[in-house]
Amino acid sequence: MINKKEIQEKLALVIYPGFTKNIIDFNFIKEIKIEKNNIFIHMDIPSAAPKIETQLREEINKRLSFLENMKIELSITKPKMPRITSSNGKNVLPNIQNFVMVSSGKGGVGKSTTTVNLAIALAQQGKRVGLLDADIYGPNIPRMMGIENEQPVFLGKTIKPILTHDIKVMSIGSLVERGASLIWKGAMVTQAIEQMLEDIEWGNLDVLLFDMPPGTGDAQLALAQSLPVTSGVCVTTPQKVALDDTIRSMDMFTQLNIPIAGIVENMSGFICPDSGKEYDIFGKGTTQPLADAYKTKVLGEVPIEPAIREGGDSGLPITVLAPACETSKRYSNMAIKLWKKLLEVNEEGGVDNEKIQPTIF
Ligand SMILES: Nc1ncnc2c1ncn2[C@@H]1O[C@H](COP(=O)(O)OP(=O)(O)O)[C@@H](O)[C@H]1O
Ligand SMILES: [Mg+2]
Repeated sequence: MINKKEIQEKLALVIYPGFTKNIIDFNFIKEIKIEKNNIFIHMDIPSAAPKIETQLREEINKRLSFLENMKIELSITKPKMPRITSSNGKNVLPNIQNFVMVSSGKGGVGKSTTTVNLAIALAQQGKRVGLLDADIYGPNIPRMMGIENEQPVFLGKTIKPILTHDIKVMSIGSLVERGASLIWKGAMVTQAIEQMLEDIEWGNLDVLLFDMPPGTGDAQLALAQSLPVTSGVCVTTPQKVALDDTIRSMDMFTQLNIPIAGIVENMSGFICPDSGKEYDIFGKGTTQPLADAYKTKVLGEVPIEPAIREGGDSGLPITVLAPACETSKRYSNMAIKLWKKLLEVNEEGGVDNEKIQPTIF
């Protein structure tokens, strides 16, 4: 019968990877228990790298392989992975706790509508929220938030965001002449984003949401490299033709090390106000498999609803105008899920993008 001491002697032959000392001398072995044909070993190591754990398991199994009739159970505790951030730790806005990038593969799918209503829902849940319209080619947040005619206040070098519906809002649309940004080239986009980030007096916020230009271009990159983007939300419509664009957005999040909070399926069915009957105008069910492939979820489905468009046009979003209606409740649920994801990312250290296999479709 094998005893503890013999096992310890074998484990003392296992050198901790990258060092010259063995795991016994390092005092990493916390427990050895022998019960009939089972050996339990518990080890506590200081490295979070999966490679170290794999190497140790292989080496330990090799050293104990002479115990042919025994079952060896090795448990290893290790520190949490440090979060890999999109910006490699850089953060030009340290007073803001979380950054959410809302993206879509193409325009017109309801990205701004989603961002606005998610922002309002978060504020209604007591969060301190900021909203930056980074869609330099089609800034429509000012209209949607009812501040189209308001001018931002300059405080010396910095700019004060405009407070509306309990949200601090800034749009590049408020800062540049209408139409001027349409001809901007890549480098100008990058510069504008970087400058806007640093020049706006946000104060302390729980979360800042970014309404991005459609696609996967310079603005997304500039933002991701300036800030540790906490999470990405992708907005899509259920048509099959929207899939490719959505995949590109999801791939972008993955490549930029942005943990994905989920996909919002917008214009998902139409509930006829006269009959209450639901019609699937753009199809349905295309988003869930995509969410599965990226190990994320469908945050919510928002039907086509005239009140949503009217809310956008009038500056009174549906979540403000009718906070108790079904659609507002859906935005509220999405905000809850998004917030949960942000907490998770902060606590658990974010994504393990190695596990995601993009572009499987
Ligand atoms: N679920 C919806 N129901 C009805 N109209 C919507 C819905 N989502 C968006 N819209 C309308 O569609 C248009 C495009 O939406 P918008 O949010 O501006 O898209 P994007 O920012 O992706 O270009 C807007 O007029 C908006 O009010
Ligand atoms: Mg938009």
